[in-house]
Amino acid sequence: MFILNENEPEELVTYLKQQKWLQEEETIISVSKPGEGNMNCVLRIETETRSFIIKQSRGYVEKYPQIPAPATRVLNEGAFYKKITSSQEVQDLMPKLLGIDAVNNLIALEDLGKTNDYTVLYDLEQKIKQEELLQLVHYLNGLHKNFQKTVVDDELTNTELRTLNYEHIFDYPFREENGFNLDTVQEGLQALALPYKKDSELIQKMEYLGSLYLSKGKYLLHGDYYPGSWLKTADGIKIIDPEFCFYGLREFDLGVLLAHMYLTQQEDAAIAFVKEKYHFFVDLNAVILNGFIGAEIMRRLIGLAQLPLKMDLKRKATLLEFAQNLILK
Ligand SMILES: Nc1ncnc2c1ncn2[C@@H]1O[C@H](COP(=O)(O)OP(=O)(O)OP(=O)(O)O)[C@@H](O)[C@H]1O
Ligand SMILES: [Mg+2]
Repeated sequence: MFILNENEPEELVTYLKQQKWLQEEETIISVSKPGEGNMNCVLRIETETRSFIIKQSRGYVEKYPQIPAPATRVLNEGAFYKKITSSQEVQDLMPKLLGIDAVNNLIALEDLGKTNDYTVLYDLEQKIKQEELLQLVHYLNGLHKNFQKTVVDDELTNTELRTLNYEHIFDYPFREENGFNLDTVQEGLQALALPYKKDSELIQKMEYLGSLYLSKGKYLLHGDYYPGSWLKTADGIKIIDPEFCFYGLREFDLGVLLAHMYLTQQEDAAIAFVKEKYHFFVDLNAVILNGFIGAEIMRRLIGLAQLPLKMDLKRKATLLEFAQNLILK
């Protein structure tokens, strides 16, 4: 098994040449981390003339090796990238897939350049521009339109990773004894979260929403459509990291997008704009959509997958209550 390691350049060169991801005459001038990731090992390879990205998944979460994760998950991501090549409008908004190594759980991707993602939005100092919102919705429109099934089947079920994600969204945040002291994130957050962990009606709704998340659906979803998956490039917004992809309910992708618009305190007009521009909005189930929006807001505030969110406790309290209402109504 080849283990990707920034500090073993010779082994890396041998490996990349074996894969034919690097030509015999090419030399590497730099190996670096292209950005902050948690889940996987992601590296940028630069030669004299070009650069590309390689990504390896392992049997655990890269940043928290004590948390197990399905080792082959990057192959689902690879399968997603392969799939979307058939739609120009979706491919145009994503890096090109350069290769898949199913033996060692690696994929190679086009390098979109040294750019930032949109996690700066969590500073709460910026509003997303309307043209950017349009691109974000345009991506979902293309994905949900071009990749839909008439009959549900077993393609890209991504069950293992989805089960892990299910726990982190719908279950873990609502467990009183989950071993995560929220006061280490922000003093007072643990107490703020407690009433929600004791709310049996809310927990019942989360179980219901979770079962919907785990069920198979007709539409190919990105599965993690939040600012960390959006890159700001010279060519406009590009979308990366579809490792949580699956065929499911469209409400989930749109719900996550809208949840992060609330989390980054976008204006009501911007939220209305997204709903207006999403082609399938009238076909959606509003109860499910609102439930997914609320669930994503809550898990980002009181779950393990915290964001670099610069928000005081009072605003978090307001947002939690808002999310609870979305779920219960
Ligand atoms: N094709 C690309 N072109 C340019 N930069 C990239 C590309 N793919 C990834 N990156 C950079 O590497 C970072 C990590 O990549 P990615 O999000 O795919 O990894 P991950 O381990 O799945 O991350 P996370 O834990 O956030 O899900 C990205 O935030 C981005 O900055
Ligand atoms: Mg990821």
